[in-house]
Amino acid sequence: MKGIILAGGAGSRLYPLTLVASKQLQPVYDKPMVYYPLTTLIEGGIRELCLISTPQDLPRFQQLLGNGSRFGLSIEYREQARPEGIAQAFLIAESFIGRNPVTLILGDNIFYGGDTFQRAFSEFKTGATIFGYHVHDPERYGVVEFDGGGRAVSIEEKPKLPKSNYAVPGLYIYDNDVVPITKALKPSARGELEITAVNVEYLRRGSLRVQRLNRGFAWLDAGTSSSLHDASAYVQTIEKRAGIKIGCPEEAAFRQHFVSLDQLESIIAAMPQCEYRSYLEAEVVAEARRLK
Ligand code: G1P
Repeated sequence: MKGIILAGGAGSRLYPLTLVASKQLQPVYDKPMVYYPLTTLIEGGIRELCLISTPQDLPRFQQLLGNGSRFGLSIEYREQARPEGIAQAFLIAESFIGRNPVTLILGDNIFYGGDTFQRAFSEFKTGATIFGYHVHDPERYGVVEFDGGGRAVSIEEKPKLPKSNYAVPGLYIYDNDVVPITKALKPSARGELEITAVNVEYLRRGSLRVQRLNRGFAWLDAGTSSSLHDASAYVQTIEKRAGIKIGCPEEAAFRQHFVSLDQLESIIAAMPQCEYRSYLEAEVVAEARRLK
């Protein structure tokens, strides 16, 4: 399974924050936003990643994440010259995807709780798997409608009159057909290759699986000033209460055995003295040494 992080877009809803740094580099409490989706993919066991962003922002992501080796990953970078839709990612990253299945995650989506994704990745065979999450404002999202038997019957992008409260979060798992499906798409009225149109095509073929995320699961998007603030507050609340970190790629890479304890220690040694470093030393390394 290959992984794509899409971190493009103008970030106009966060102006003036986005004059100097893209949306996905903004802080969500104590880390850059992109650390959260990156961690979600690592926790899912995905090691080969491609990050897509604008020509202006790509160098910053490269500075932040490098070639991925400090997380035991390989990370390639590709440019999205113009914001022409989420599904364009599959055309931009076609050579990266090759003949593999692929997971796409949006760089401003934050997930926390449970092992639903890990299981979905390991159980995935063909077709597409997407998710449904109950929200109070479904009109802001792709919306999935279920029949009485829990089967998805329709998906609409930002409908004025949503047929359900189930929004489709920005994590999508596809087989290799996603590339030809995207190539056959026509741009929507807003001039974009819509991810919803990809999902509608899988639904038409009878190969779309929509899994509902349960109530214990948190999905936050951080695309507006208010939701960015909410996401920070949420992360701070959980981290303070539990003494753990959400969205810590070094920790996730270690727990996935992508990096060894010795490697983790040398990565930590290169960090300045800070709370992030103290956490990794006290909660991850010291605990691992104790259990050895
Ligand atoms: C996009 C998708 C939408 C999805 C949402 C998840 O919306 O078009 O279907 O529900 O991401 O965050 P956008 O962020 O472009 O408004």
